[in-house]
This record gives sequence, C-alpha cells and structure tokens, in this order.
Amino acid sequence: MVHTHTLVVILFLIMFGYKTYLLLTNQTVKLELVRNKTKIFEMIFGTVILLTGGYLLYGKYLVEHSIPTWLITKFALFMVAIPLGIIGIKKSNKALALVSLLLFIFIYGLAEMKGFGPKKTLETPMVGDGVVDGKALFINECAKCHGTDGKLGLVGSADLSLTKLSVEELSSVIKNGKGTMPKFDYLTEAEIAGLTDYIAKLK
Ligand code: HEC
Repeated sequence: MVHTHTLVVILFLIMFGYKTYLLLTNQTVKLELVRNKTKIFEMIFGTVILLTGGYLLYGKYLVEHSIPTWLITKFALFMVAIPLGIIGIKKSNKALALVSLLLFIFIYGLAEMKGFGPKKTLETPMVGDGVVDGKALFINECAKCHGTDGKLGLVGSADLSLTKLSVEELSSVIKNGKGTMPKFDYLTEAEIAGLTDYIAKLK
C-alpha cells in the first residue's frame, strides 16, 4: 500500500511538473494538448493518492492511536496544493502553478524524510547477558497488531499461533515486512531470534 501510494505520487509529480514547465516556458499550444490528454489520469491519480493515503492514515491511527502532526500537515497542504495546481494550470497562472508544484515537492520530501515505517524507540529488553527477552520485545514491537498471544489480528495481521512458516521464513517476514506489516529492519539477528523463539512458543 505504501508502495502504491508513493508510485502514484511520483507519477502525479512528473505529470504536474511537466505541465508547469510547459506553462513557464510559454508553450501554450503544447500545454493545452497535454492538459487534455492527461486530464483523466490526473483525476484518477489524485483520487488514488487520497484513498491510499487515507487508508495508510487509518492504519497508523489504529496502531498508534494518534496521528503525528507532520502527517496532518501533509494532508492539509495536499488539500491546498490540489486546487491551487488545477486553477494555476487552467488559468495559465504561472505563479500559482509554481507555488503548487513547490508545495507538492515539499509534501513529498516531508513524507520521504519521516516515512511510514516504525523506528527503534525502546531499549532492547534482556534476560541475562546477551540474551534477548523475546516476549518483552514482542510486546513492545509486535503486540499492538498481533496481540500478546499472536491472535489479535489488527489490520489483517496473521494469527501467529497458527503460522506454518519456518524460522528462516519468520525472520524474513520480520526483516522485510509483508503486506501492511512494516519491515523491522533495525532489529539485530539476536533480537529476531528472540522473537522467532517466542512465536514458536505461541503454538
Ligand atoms: C502494523 C501492524 C503490525 C505490526 C506492528 C507487526 N505485524 Fe506482523 N503482520 C502484520 C500483518 C498485517 C500481517 C499479514 C501480512 C500478509 O499476510 O499480508 C503480518 C504477518 C506476520 C507474520 C507472517 C505470518 C504468516 O504465517 O504468514 C509474521 C511472522 C509476523 N507478522 C511477525 C511479526 C513480528 C515478530 C512483529 C514485531 C517485530 C510484527 N509482526 C509486527 C501486521 C503487523
């Protein structure tokens, strides 16, 4: 979902950037042509960006019970940039189109910097020297979606007490993510081993 969202945003930016370029360089005939040809795509892309963005926001809210300010800012700026861009291109207003393009790029940059994925925030819980407390780590990182017993199933999370995956496959899902599950690429091998041990005990 994050990838679909990013891809459509990039396509939208390229299209809008090109039109702004044509407008700024006074290529009005060509602009008119491109505008007519891309109108339908622009509508589709705009709708897909809003729908996928809304879905991602909702998922984040379910997991974290709050939406960070930068995401709200991003959403608000997007809702301003869209009409500015449409009016700018339609009325051939260079300033408006340029402001709108800069806004889109800024919004994109904001998202790239912050990202949707989780970041390491807590100390790794340990039981004794160099041995990770898999259960405590699971509760910190995973229980919000999977539940402490692995059965919660929030946002379509798999029931981990029923998983048929091998230790390697489990590690790979944790490292790389799957579907709406984010990747936990900041976890060390020892931490991942602690988690797979705990998941094995859930069965
Ligand atoms: C934001 C919610 C979320 C968090 C946090 C999360 N998961 Fe998941 N997890 C999911 C979803 C959703 C799926 C199902 C993905 C799919 O099949 O498309 C999943 C699937 C899995 C699977 C695959 C199970 C199978 O049988 O296919 C494993 C293993 C797993 N999660 C382990 C973990 C571990 C370990 C953590 C903590 C490091 C974790 N998850 C954190 C949402 C989450």
